Amino acid sequence: MTTESKWWQHGIVYQIYPRSYQDTNGDGVGDLFGIIQRLDYLKSLNIDAIWISPIFPSPMHDFGYDVADYTDIHPMFGTLADFDKLLAEAHQRDLKILLDLVPNHTSDEHAWFVESRSSRDNPKRDWYIWRDPKPDGSPPNNWLSFFGGPAWTLDQTTGQYYLHQFVTQQPELNYRHPEVLPAMLDCMRFWLDRGVDGFRVDVIWLMIKDEQLRDEPPNQSGTSVQMGEYGKLNHIYTKDLPEVHGLIKQMRTLVDEYDDRVMIGEIYEPFEVLVQYYGKQADECHLPFNFHLIISEWDAVAVRQRVEEYEAHLPEGAWPNWVLGNHDQHRVATRTGYEQARMANMLLLTLRGTPTCYYGDELGMEDGYIPPEFIQDPPALNQPELADVIGRDPERTPMQWDDTTNAGFTVEGVTSWLPVTENYKTRNVALQLSDSNSMLSYFQQLTTLRRAEPALNRGDYATVKIVGDDLFAYRRDHAERDSFLIVLNFGASKHQLDLSHVGQHVQIALSTDLQRTGEVDLATLTLHGNEGLVLRLG
Ligand code: GLC
Repeated sequence: MTTESKWWQHGIVYQIYPRSYQDTNGDGVGDLFGIIQRLDYLKSLNIDAIWISPIFPSPMHDFGYDVADYTDIHPMFGTLADFDKLLAEAHQRDLKILLDLVPNHTSDEHAWFVESRSSRDNPKRDWYIWRDPKPDGSPPNNWLSFFGGPAWTLDQTTGQYYLHQFVTQQPELNYRHPEVLPAMLDCMRFWLDRGVDGFRVDVIWLMIKDEQLRDEPPNQSGTSVQMGEYGKLNHIYTKDLPEVHGLIKQMRTLVDEYDDRVMIGEIYEPFEVLVQYYGKQADECHLPFNFHLIISEWDAVAVRQRVEEYEAHLPEGAWPNWVLGNHDQHRVATRTGYEQARMANMLLLTLRGTPTCYYGDELGMEDGYIPPEFIQDPPALNQPELADVIGRDPERTPMQWDDTTNAGFTVEGVTSWLPVTENYKTRNVALQLSDSNSMLSYFQQLTTLRRAEPALNRGDYATVKIVGDDLFAYRRDHAERDSFLIVLNFGASKHQLDLSHVGQHVQIALSTDLQRTGEVDLATLTLHGNEGLVLRLG
Protein backbone atom coordinates (compact mmCIF):
# COMPACT_ATOMS: atom_id res chain seq x y z
CA MET A 1 0.00 0.00 0.00
CA THR A 2 1.57 3.27 -1.01
CA THR A 3 -1.41 5.61 -0.74
CA GLU A 4 -2.88 7.29 2.33
CA SER A 5 -3.13 4.92 5.25
CA LYS A 6 -5.01 4.94 8.54
CA TRP A 7 -3.36 5.32 11.94
CA TRP A 8 -4.09 1.70 12.80
CA GLN A 9 -2.29 0.64 9.61
CA HIS A 10 0.95 2.62 9.75
CA GLY A 11 0.93 3.04 13.54
CA ILE A 12 2.32 0.90 16.37
CA VAL A 13 0.12 -0.64 19.07
CA TYR A 14 1.59 -1.05 22.58
CA GLN A 15 -0.12 -3.31 25.09
CA ILE A 16 -0.24 -2.35 28.75
CA TYR A 17 -1.15 -4.94 31.36
CA PRO A 18 -2.49 -2.34 33.79
CA ARG A 19 -1.98 -4.34 36.98
CA SER A 20 1.74 -4.31 36.28
CA TYR A 21 2.56 -0.96 34.69
CA GLN A 22 2.71 1.68 37.43
CA ASP A 23 1.18 1.76 40.89
CA THR A 24 0.55 5.23 42.30
CA ASN A 25 -1.72 4.50 45.28
CA GLY A 26 0.50 1.98 47.02
CA ASP A 27 -1.69 -1.12 46.85
CA GLY A 28 0.85 -3.11 44.86
CA VAL A 29 -1.31 -3.10 41.71
CA GLY A 30 -0.96 -0.66 38.82
CA ASP A 31 -3.60 1.99 38.14
CA LEU A 32 -4.82 4.56 35.62
CA PHE A 33 -2.89 7.41 37.23
CA GLY A 34 0.18 5.30 36.77
CA ILE A 35 -0.45 5.13 33.05
CA ILE A 36 -1.13 8.88 32.94
CA GLN A 37 2.21 9.49 34.66
CA ARG A 38 3.98 7.43 32.02
CA LEU A 39 2.38 8.95 28.93
CA ASP A 40 5.45 10.99 28.07
CA TYR A 41 7.55 7.86 28.25
CA LEU A 42 5.04 6.08 26.00
CA LYS A 43 5.15 8.96 23.54
CA SER A 44 8.95 8.72 23.48
CA LEU A 45 8.60 5.15 22.17
CA ASN A 46 6.95 6.52 19.00
CA ILE A 47 3.95 4.33 19.49
CA ASP A 48 0.52 5.35 18.25
CA ALA A 49 -2.00 3.44 20.32
CA ILE A 50 -2.15 1.95 23.79
CA TRP A 51 -4.25 -1.17 24.29
CA ILE A 52 -5.05 -1.61 27.96
CA SER A 53 -6.03 -5.06 29.24
CA PRO A 54 -9.36 -4.99 31.15
CA ILE A 55 -9.84 -2.22 33.72
CA PHE A 56 -13.51 -2.86 34.53
CA PRO A 57 -15.01 -3.93 37.88
CA SER A 58 -14.09 -7.56 38.37
CA PRO A 59 -13.56 -10.05 41.18
CA MET A 60 -10.25 -10.75 39.37
CA HIS A 61 -10.50 -14.52 39.14
CA ASP A 62 -8.90 -14.14 35.70
CA PHE A 63 -7.33 -10.77 36.49
CA GLY A 64 -9.96 -8.62 34.86
CA TYR A 65 -11.03 -10.95 32.04
CA ASP A 66 -13.99 -11.78 34.29
CA VAL A 67 -15.96 -8.55 33.93
CA ALA A 68 -18.65 -7.73 36.49
CA ASP A 69 -19.69 -4.44 34.87
CA TYR A 70 -18.78 -3.42 31.32
CA THR A 71 -19.49 0.27 31.83
CA ASP A 72 -17.42 1.25 34.84
CA ILE A 73 -13.84 1.21 36.10
CA HIS A 74 -12.54 -1.09 38.86
CA PRO A 75 -11.81 1.09 41.94
CA MET A 76 -8.40 -0.59 42.09
CA PHE A 77 -7.57 1.13 38.79
CA GLY A 78 -9.41 4.40 39.44
CA THR A 79 -12.71 6.00 38.46
CA LEU A 80 -14.51 6.92 35.27
CA ALA A 81 -13.26 10.47 35.80
CA ASP A 82 -9.68 9.14 35.93
CA PHE A 83 -10.31 7.25 32.73
CA ASP A 84 -11.61 10.40 31.04
CA LYS A 85 -8.47 12.18 32.17
CA LEU A 86 -6.30 9.40 30.74
CA LEU A 87 -8.16 9.60 27.46
CA ALA A 88 -7.84 13.38 27.27
CA GLU A 89 -4.14 13.35 28.19
CA ALA A 90 -3.42 10.59 25.72
CA HIS A 91 -5.29 12.38 22.94
CA GLN A 92 -3.42 15.57 23.70
CA ARG A 93 -0.25 13.66 22.89
CA ASP A 94 -1.80 12.14 19.80
CA LEU A 95 -1.94 8.70 21.38
CA LYS A 96 -5.01 6.50 20.88
CA ILE A 97 -6.57 4.39 23.61
CA LEU A 98 -7.96 0.91 22.91
CA LEU A 99 -9.99 -0.98 25.48
CA ASP A 100 -10.17 -4.71 25.95
CA LEU A 101 -13.71 -5.92 25.31
CA VAL A 102 -14.55 -9.33 26.75
CA PRO A 103 -17.89 -10.27 25.17
CA ASN A 104 -17.65 -14.07 25.24
CA HIS A 105 -18.15 -14.36 28.99
CA THR A 106 -18.92 -12.23 32.02
CA SER A 107 -17.97 -12.64 35.64
CA ASP A 108 -20.38 -14.75 37.69
CA GLU A 109 -20.83 -11.54 39.69
CA HIS A 110 -22.19 -9.62 36.71
CA ALA A 111 -25.81 -8.55 37.33
CA TRP A 112 -26.87 -10.45 34.18
CA PHE A 113 -25.55 -13.73 35.52
CA VAL A 114 -26.82 -13.11 39.05
CA GLU A 115 -30.30 -12.82 37.52
CA SER A 116 -29.77 -15.70 35.14
CA ARG A 117 -28.77 -18.14 37.86
CA SER A 118 -31.56 -17.02 40.24
CA SER A 119 -34.19 -19.32 38.71
CA ARG A 120 -34.89 -21.43 35.66
CA ASP A 121 -37.62 -19.05 34.53
CA ASN A 122 -35.77 -15.79 35.02
CA PRO A 123 -36.02 -13.66 31.83
CA LYS A 124 -32.20 -13.64 31.63
CA ARG A 125 -31.90 -17.41 32.12
CA ASP A 126 -31.06 -18.02 28.46
CA TRP A 127 -28.62 -15.15 28.23
CA TYR A 128 -26.16 -17.83 29.35
CA ILE A 129 -25.77 -21.47 28.32
CA TRP A 130 -27.57 -23.74 30.78
CA ARG A 131 -28.25 -27.45 30.37
CA ASP A 132 -29.55 -30.32 32.46
CA PRO A 133 -27.06 -32.87 33.73
CA LYS A 134 -26.90 -36.22 31.98
CA PRO A 135 -29.04 -38.89 33.69
CA ASP A 136 -26.00 -39.94 35.74
CA GLY A 137 -25.53 -36.38 36.94
CA SER A 138 -22.44 -35.67 34.81
CA PRO A 139 -21.98 -32.57 32.59
CA PRO A 140 -24.08 -32.26 29.40
CA ASN A 141 -21.12 -33.01 27.10
CA ASN A 142 -17.34 -33.51 27.01
CA TRP A 143 -16.29 -29.91 26.42
CA LEU A 144 -13.17 -28.78 28.25
CA SER A 145 -11.97 -25.54 29.79
CA PHE A 146 -8.82 -23.93 28.39
CA PHE A 147 -7.64 -23.78 31.98
CA GLY A 148 -8.10 -27.50 32.70
CA GLY A 149 -11.10 -29.56 33.75
CA PRO A 150 -14.62 -29.64 32.32
CA ALA A 151 -16.19 -26.55 30.75
CA TRP A 152 -19.31 -27.02 32.88
CA THR A 153 -20.17 -26.24 36.47
CA LEU A 154 -23.29 -27.43 38.24
CA ASP A 155 -25.36 -24.72 39.87
CA GLN A 156 -26.84 -26.34 42.97
CA THR A 157 -29.79 -23.95 43.31
CA THR A 158 -31.35 -24.60 39.92
CA GLY A 159 -29.85 -28.04 39.27
CA GLN A 160 -28.41 -27.21 35.83
CA TYR A 161 -24.89 -26.84 34.48
CA TYR A 162 -23.60 -23.60 32.92
CA LEU A 163 -20.85 -23.36 30.31
CA HIS A 164 -17.49 -21.67 30.91
CA GLN A 165 -14.43 -22.31 28.77
CA PHE A 166 -12.13 -20.50 31.20
CA VAL A 167 -12.47 -20.35 35.01
CA THR A 168 -15.77 -21.40 36.60
CA GLN A 169 -16.38 -17.77 37.47
CA GLN A 170 -16.51 -16.84 33.75
CA PRO A 171 -19.94 -18.04 32.52
CA GLU A 172 -20.35 -17.78 28.75
CA LEU A 173 -22.99 -15.58 27.20
CA ASN A 174 -25.45 -17.11 24.76
CA TYR A 175 -25.28 -15.10 21.54
CA ARG A 176 -28.10 -17.17 20.07
CA HIS A 177 -30.42 -15.26 22.39
CA PRO A 178 -31.64 -12.14 20.54
CA GLU A 179 -31.11 -9.76 23.47
CA VAL A 180 -27.49 -10.53 24.22
CA LEU A 181 -25.68 -8.90 21.31
CA PRO A 182 -27.72 -5.66 21.58
CA ALA A 183 -26.80 -5.51 25.27
CA MET A 184 -23.10 -5.93 24.42
CA LEU A 185 -23.33 -3.34 21.64
CA ASP A 186 -24.71 -0.89 24.21
CA CYS A 187 -21.61 -1.47 26.33
CA MET A 188 -19.41 -0.78 23.31
CA ARG A 189 -21.40 2.36 22.54
CA PHE A 190 -20.82 3.58 26.09
CA TRP A 191 -17.05 3.67 25.52
CA LEU A 192 -17.17 4.80 21.90
CA ASP A 193 -19.31 7.78 22.96
CA ARG A 194 -16.71 8.57 25.61
CA GLY A 195 -14.08 8.74 22.87
CA VAL A 196 -12.14 5.48 23.00
CA ASP A 197 -10.42 4.71 19.73
CA GLY A 198 -11.39 1.09 19.49
CA PHE A 199 -11.32 -2.34 21.02
CA ARG A 200 -9.24 -5.45 21.20
CA VAL A 201 -11.92 -8.13 21.37
CA ASP A 202 -11.16 -11.09 23.61
CA VAL A 203 -11.53 -14.64 22.21
CA ILE A 204 -13.70 -13.40 19.37
CA TRP A 205 -13.43 -16.77 17.60
CA LEU A 206 -15.19 -18.57 20.44
CA MET A 207 -18.30 -16.42 20.71
CA ILE A 208 -20.76 -18.95 19.24
CA LYS A 209 -20.98 -22.65 20.08
CA ASP A 210 -22.80 -25.59 18.55
CA GLU A 211 -26.50 -25.28 19.20
CA GLN A 212 -26.85 -29.01 19.82
CA LEU A 213 -23.85 -29.06 22.17
CA ARG A 214 -22.40 -32.12 20.47
CA ASP A 215 -19.39 -33.88 22.01
CA GLU A 216 -16.07 -32.81 20.51
CA PRO A 217 -13.95 -35.54 18.91
CA PRO A 218 -10.48 -36.39 20.19
CA ASN A 219 -7.62 -34.40 18.72
CA GLN A 220 -5.92 -36.75 16.26
CA SER A 221 -3.34 -34.33 14.99
CA GLY A 222 -1.19 -34.21 18.11
CA THR A 223 -1.12 -31.38 20.56
CA SER A 224 1.39 -29.14 22.22
CA VAL A 225 2.00 -29.30 25.92
CA GLN A 226 1.10 -25.59 26.06
CA MET A 227 -2.50 -26.52 25.45
CA GLY A 228 -2.63 -28.73 28.55
CA GLU A 229 -5.67 -30.96 28.91
CA TYR A 230 -7.69 -28.72 26.56
CA GLY A 231 -5.51 -29.89 23.67
CA LYS A 232 -6.93 -33.40 23.89
CA LEU A 233 -10.05 -32.50 21.90
CA ASN A 234 -10.59 -31.13 18.43
CA HIS A 235 -12.70 -28.07 19.11
CA ILE A 236 -14.99 -28.17 16.12
CA TYR A 237 -18.10 -27.25 18.11
CA THR A 238 -16.77 -24.40 20.23
CA LYS A 239 -14.80 -22.23 17.82
CA ASP A 240 -14.98 -20.67 14.36
CA LEU A 241 -18.65 -21.53 13.92
CA PRO A 242 -20.04 -19.88 10.76
CA GLU A 243 -22.55 -17.82 12.75
CA VAL A 244 -19.78 -15.97 14.58
CA HIS A 245 -19.13 -13.91 11.47
CA GLY A 246 -22.64 -12.46 11.60
CA LEU A 247 -22.03 -11.27 15.15
CA ILE A 248 -18.71 -9.70 14.33
CA LYS A 249 -20.25 -7.85 11.39
CA GLN A 250 -22.78 -6.27 13.69
CA MET A 251 -20.06 -5.22 16.10
CA ARG A 252 -18.09 -3.74 13.21
CA THR A 253 -21.14 -1.88 11.91
CA LEU A 254 -21.38 -0.16 15.26
CA VAL A 255 -17.67 0.69 15.35
CA ASP A 256 -17.98 2.15 11.84
CA GLU A 257 -20.70 4.54 12.98
CA TYR A 258 -17.85 6.40 14.67
CA ASP A 259 -14.97 8.15 13.01
CA ASP A 260 -11.66 6.37 12.60
CA ARG A 261 -12.06 3.66 15.27
CA VAL A 262 -10.59 0.19 15.11
CA MET A 263 -11.63 -3.33 16.01
CA ILE A 264 -8.95 -5.95 16.63
CA GLY A 265 -9.91 -9.57 17.21
CA GLU A 266 -8.07 -12.17 19.27
CA ILE A 267 -7.89 -15.35 17.15
CA TYR A 268 -5.36 -18.18 17.48
CA GLU A 269 -5.84 -20.01 14.19
CA PRO A 270 -3.93 -21.05 11.05
CA PHE A 271 -3.83 -18.43 8.30
CA GLU A 272 -6.61 -19.87 6.18
CA VAL A 273 -9.02 -19.57 9.11
CA LEU A 274 -7.55 -16.37 10.52
CA VAL A 275 -8.03 -14.33 7.37
CA GLN A 276 -11.74 -15.17 7.29
CA TYR A 277 -12.08 -12.78 10.22
CA TYR A 278 -11.43 -9.80 7.94
CA GLY A 279 -14.90 -10.58 6.57
CA LYS A 280 -15.90 -11.41 3.01
CA GLN A 281 -16.60 -7.73 2.33
CA ALA A 282 -13.83 -6.49 4.65
CA ASP A 283 -16.65 -5.95 7.12
CA GLU A 284 -15.42 -7.80 10.23
CA CYS A 285 -12.18 -7.18 12.15
CA HIS A 286 -9.93 -4.40 10.88
CA LEU A 287 -7.11 -6.50 12.30
CA PRO A 288 -7.52 -10.17 13.24
CA PHE A 289 -4.50 -10.54 15.51
CA ASN A 290 -1.75 -12.53 13.84
CA PHE A 291 0.14 -14.49 16.51
CA HIS A 292 2.26 -16.54 14.12
CA LEU A 293 5.56 -14.97 15.20
CA ILE A 294 4.74 -16.23 18.69
CA ILE A 295 3.64 -19.72 17.73
CA SER A 296 6.28 -20.30 15.05
CA GLU A 297 9.49 -22.17 15.66
CA TRP A 298 12.08 -19.46 16.12
CA ASP A 299 14.43 -19.90 13.18
CA ALA A 300 14.94 -18.04 9.91
CA VAL A 301 13.38 -20.68 7.69
CA ALA A 302 10.25 -21.17 9.78
CA VAL A 303 9.71 -17.44 10.23
CA ARG A 304 10.22 -16.71 6.53
CA GLN A 305 7.70 -19.42 5.66
CA ARG A 306 5.13 -17.92 8.03
CA VAL A 307 5.64 -14.45 6.58
CA GLU A 308 5.27 -15.67 3.02
CA GLU A 309 2.29 -17.83 3.86
CA TYR A 310 0.55 -14.94 5.56
CA GLU A 311 1.24 -12.55 2.69
CA ALA A 312 -0.16 -15.15 0.29
CA HIS A 313 -3.33 -15.70 2.31
CA LEU A 314 -4.28 -12.06 2.83
CA PRO A 315 -7.45 -11.22 0.94
CA GLU A 316 -7.56 -8.17 -1.33
CA GLY A 317 -7.46 -4.98 0.73
CA ALA A 318 -6.82 -6.76 4.04
CA TRP A 319 -4.16 -5.01 6.12
CA PRO A 320 -1.63 -7.32 7.84
CA ASN A 321 -0.51 -7.19 11.45
CA TRP A 322 2.08 -8.92 13.64
CA VAL A 323 2.31 -9.55 17.37
CA LEU A 324 5.51 -10.52 19.19
CA GLY A 325 4.29 -10.80 22.76
CA ASN A 326 1.29 -10.47 25.03
CA HIS A 327 0.07 -11.23 28.55
CA ASP A 328 -0.68 -14.86 27.66
CA GLN A 329 2.69 -15.80 26.17
CA HIS A 330 6.20 -16.13 27.48
CA ARG A 331 8.20 -13.00 26.83
CA VAL A 332 9.98 -12.64 23.53
CA ALA A 333 13.40 -12.12 25.16
CA THR A 334 12.88 -15.43 26.98
CA ARG A 335 11.66 -17.26 23.90
CA THR A 336 14.43 -16.08 21.59
CA GLY A 337 17.14 -15.44 24.16
CA TYR A 338 18.11 -11.91 25.17
CA GLU A 339 20.84 -11.78 22.49
CA GLN A 340 18.16 -12.01 19.80
CA ALA A 341 15.56 -9.74 21.32
CA ARG A 342 16.80 -6.72 19.32
CA MET A 343 16.66 -8.64 16.08
CA ALA A 344 13.19 -9.92 16.96
CA ASN A 345 11.99 -6.34 17.45
CA MET A 346 13.56 -5.37 14.14
CA LEU A 347 11.57 -8.12 12.46
CA LEU A 348 8.33 -7.03 14.14
CA LEU A 349 8.86 -3.38 13.27
CA THR A 350 9.94 -3.81 9.67
CA LEU A 351 7.51 -6.44 8.43
CA ARG A 352 4.53 -5.20 6.44
CA GLY A 353 1.64 -4.61 8.81
CA THR A 354 0.66 -3.10 12.13
CA PRO A 355 2.99 -4.22 14.92
CA THR A 356 1.78 -4.86 18.47
CA CYS A 357 4.44 -4.59 21.20
CA TYR A 358 4.03 -5.84 24.74
CA TYR A 359 5.06 -3.55 27.61
CA GLY A 360 8.66 -4.07 28.72
CA ASP A 361 9.71 -5.79 25.52
CA GLU A 362 11.34 -2.50 24.54
CA LEU A 363 13.80 -3.16 27.40
CA GLY A 364 14.18 -6.86 26.77
CA MET A 365 12.28 -7.76 29.94
CA GLU A 366 12.36 -11.51 30.49
CA ASP A 367 9.96 -13.91 32.17
CA GLY A 368 10.13 -13.61 35.93
CA TYR A 369 10.63 -16.54 38.24
CA ILE A 370 7.45 -17.11 40.24
CA PRO A 371 8.02 -19.29 43.32
CA PRO A 372 5.22 -21.89 43.62
CA GLU A 373 3.65 -20.15 46.61
CA PHE A 374 3.28 -16.91 44.60
CA ILE A 375 1.53 -18.42 41.60
CA GLN A 376 -1.68 -16.55 40.85
CA ASP A 377 -2.67 -17.53 37.34
CA PRO A 378 -5.63 -19.96 37.22
CA PRO A 379 -4.34 -22.39 34.55
CA ALA A 380 -1.09 -22.79 36.49
CA LEU A 381 -2.98 -23.33 39.74
CA ASN A 382 -5.32 -25.85 38.08
CA GLN A 383 -2.53 -27.84 36.41
CA PRO A 384 0.47 -27.37 38.75
CA GLU A 385 2.52 -30.01 36.95
CA LEU A 386 2.40 -27.78 33.84
CA ALA A 387 2.79 -24.47 35.69
CA ASP A 388 6.17 -23.68 34.11
CA VAL A 389 4.80 -24.11 30.62
CA ILE A 390 1.27 -22.77 30.80
CA GLY A 391 1.50 -20.32 33.70
CA ARG A 392 1.16 -16.69 32.61
CA ASP A 393 2.45 -14.93 35.72
CA PRO A 394 6.08 -14.89 34.47
CA GLU A 395 5.23 -12.52 31.58
CA ARG A 396 3.07 -10.26 33.76
CA THR A 397 5.66 -9.10 36.28
CA PRO A 398 5.92 -5.38 37.15
CA MET A 399 7.40 -2.97 34.66
CA GLN A 400 11.06 -2.31 35.43
CA TRP A 401 11.35 1.45 35.69
CA ASP A 402 14.51 1.89 37.77
CA ASP A 403 16.83 0.17 40.23
CA THR A 404 15.07 1.22 43.43
CA THR A 405 13.15 -1.31 45.53
CA ASN A 406 10.20 -2.66 43.52
CA ALA A 407 11.85 -1.34 40.34
CA GLY A 408 9.95 1.94 40.68
CA PHE A 409 6.70 0.10 39.99
CA THR A 410 5.27 0.76 43.43
CA VAL A 411 6.32 2.59 46.56
CA GLU A 412 8.86 1.24 48.99
CA GLY A 413 7.58 -1.13 51.65
CA VAL A 414 4.68 -2.29 49.49
CA THR A 415 4.55 -5.85 48.13
CA SER A 416 3.81 -5.84 44.43
CA TRP A 417 1.06 -8.25 43.32
CA LEU A 418 3.64 -10.31 41.43
CA PRO A 419 7.33 -10.31 42.34
CA VAL A 420 9.58 -7.96 40.41
CA THR A 421 11.93 -9.87 38.11
CA GLU A 422 15.38 -10.23 39.60
CA ASN A 423 17.31 -8.57 36.80
CA TYR A 424 15.59 -5.18 37.33
CA LYS A 425 18.72 -3.61 38.79
CA THR A 426 20.51 -3.91 35.50
CA ARG A 427 17.56 -3.95 33.12
CA ASN A 428 15.34 -0.95 33.66
CA VAL A 429 14.10 2.16 31.89
CA ALA A 430 16.19 4.71 33.83
CA LEU A 431 19.44 2.89 33.17
CA GLN A 432 18.66 2.22 29.55
CA LEU A 433 17.63 5.83 28.88
CA SER A 434 21.05 6.96 30.05
CA ASP A 435 22.86 4.50 27.80
CA SER A 436 22.90 5.39 24.13
CA ASN A 437 23.61 1.75 23.20
CA SER A 438 20.86 0.18 25.28
CA MET A 439 18.02 -1.92 23.98
CA LEU A 440 15.63 0.92 24.79
CA SER A 441 17.71 3.48 22.86
CA TYR A 442 17.80 1.01 20.02
CA PHE A 443 14.02 0.52 20.19
CA GLN A 444 13.49 4.28 20.03
CA GLN A 445 15.73 4.56 16.98
CA LEU A 446 13.95 1.68 15.33
CA THR A 447 10.51 3.20 15.87
CA THR A 448 11.76 6.63 14.81
CA LEU A 449 13.02 5.14 11.56
CA ARG A 450 9.81 3.20 11.00
CA ARG A 451 7.70 6.28 11.62
CA ALA A 452 9.76 8.44 9.27
CA GLU A 453 9.88 6.02 6.36
CA PRO A 454 6.71 5.26 4.39
CA ALA A 455 8.38 2.20 2.86
CA LEU A 456 8.70 0.70 6.33
CA ASN A 457 5.32 1.66 7.73
CA ARG A 458 3.19 1.08 4.64
CA GLY A 459 5.35 -0.09 1.74
CA ASP A 460 5.22 -3.36 -0.17
CA TYR A 461 6.92 -6.54 1.01
CA ALA A 462 9.09 -8.93 -1.01
CA THR A 463 11.32 -11.77 0.19
CA VAL A 464 14.93 -11.57 -1.00
CA LYS A 465 16.53 -14.90 -1.85
CA ILE A 466 19.47 -15.55 0.38
CA VAL A 467 21.79 -18.48 1.04
CA GLY A 468 22.03 -19.82 4.58
CA ASP A 469 19.54 -21.35 6.99
CA ASP A 470 20.14 -18.71 9.65
CA LEU A 471 19.31 -15.78 7.41
CA PHE A 472 16.14 -14.04 6.37
CA ALA A 473 16.08 -11.02 4.07
CA TYR A 474 13.32 -8.93 2.57
CA ARG A 475 12.67 -5.60 0.88
CA ARG A 476 10.20 -2.91 1.72
CA ASP A 477 9.39 -0.66 -1.21
CA HIS A 478 7.43 2.53 -1.67
CA ALA A 479 6.75 4.00 -5.10
CA GLU A 480 7.79 7.55 -4.24
CA ARG A 481 10.20 7.13 -1.35
CA ASP A 482 13.33 5.20 -0.40
CA SER A 483 13.31 1.42 -0.36
CA PHE A 484 14.91 -0.72 2.33
CA LEU A 485 16.59 -4.09 2.56
CA ILE A 486 16.30 -5.90 5.88
CA VAL A 487 18.72 -8.72 6.64
CA LEU A 488 18.33 -10.73 9.83
CA ASN A 489 20.66 -13.30 11.36
CA PHE A 490 18.83 -15.85 13.52
CA GLY A 491 22.10 -17.61 14.34
CA ALA A 492 24.91 -16.83 16.74
CA SER A 493 27.68 -17.02 14.15
CA LYS A 494 28.94 -14.46 11.71
CA HIS A 495 28.05 -14.68 8.01
CA GLN A 496 29.46 -13.06 4.93
CA LEU A 497 27.08 -12.78 2.01
CA ASP A 498 26.83 -11.53 -1.49
CA LEU A 499 23.70 -9.51 -2.06
CA SER A 500 25.03 -7.65 -5.07
CA HIS A 501 21.89 -8.60 -7.01
CA VAL A 502 20.02 -6.17 -4.74
CA GLY A 503 22.42 -3.22 -4.85
CA GLN A 504 25.99 -2.10 -4.36
CA HIS A 505 27.15 0.38 -1.79
CA VAL A 506 24.32 1.19 0.59
CA GLN A 507 23.85 3.04 3.86
CA ILE A 508 23.11 1.32 7.14
CA ALA A 509 19.88 2.92 8.30
CA LEU A 510 20.01 0.89 11.52
CA SER A 511 21.86 -2.07 12.95
CA THR A 512 20.93 -3.95 16.12
CA ASP A 513 24.46 -2.87 17.05
CA LEU A 514 23.98 0.89 17.26
CA GLN A 515 27.70 1.45 16.85
CA ARG A 516 27.62 0.00 13.39
CA THR A 517 26.88 2.86 11.02
CA GLY A 518 28.04 4.07 7.63
CA GLU A 519 28.14 2.36 4.27
CA VAL A 520 28.39 -1.34 3.38
CA ASP A 521 29.22 -3.15 0.16
CA LEU A 522 26.41 -5.61 -0.56
CA ALA A 523 28.79 -7.87 -2.47
CA THR A 524 30.69 -8.63 0.74
CA LEU A 525 28.15 -7.93 3.43
CA THR A 526 29.07 -9.12 6.92
CA LEU A 527 26.38 -9.97 9.39
CA HIS A 528 27.41 -10.62 12.99
CA GLY A 529 25.76 -13.24 15.17
CA ASN A 530 22.17 -12.27 16.12
CA GLU A 531 22.49 -9.09 14.09
CA GLY A 532 19.79 -7.40 12.12
CA LEU A 533 20.39 -4.66 9.56
CA VAL A 534 18.06 -2.18 7.91
CA LEU A 535 19.80 -0.94 4.77
CA ARG A 536 18.67 2.05 2.74
CA LEU A 537 18.52 1.17 -0.93
CA GLY A 538 17.61 4.68 -2.03
C1 GLC B 1 -8.01 -14.26 26.34
C2 GLC B 1 -7.14 -13.41 27.22
C3 GLC B 1 -6.69 -14.22 28.39
C4 GLC B 1 -7.91 -14.65 29.17
C5 GLC B 1 -8.90 -15.38 28.28
C6 GLC B 1 -10.26 -15.46 28.92
O1 GLC B 1 -7.30 -15.29 25.76
O2 GLC B 1 -6.08 -12.88 26.47
O3 GLC B 1 -5.80 -13.54 29.22
O4 GLC B 1 -7.54 -15.47 30.24
O5 GLC B 1 -9.11 -14.72 27.07
O6 GLC B 1 -10.86 -14.20 28.95
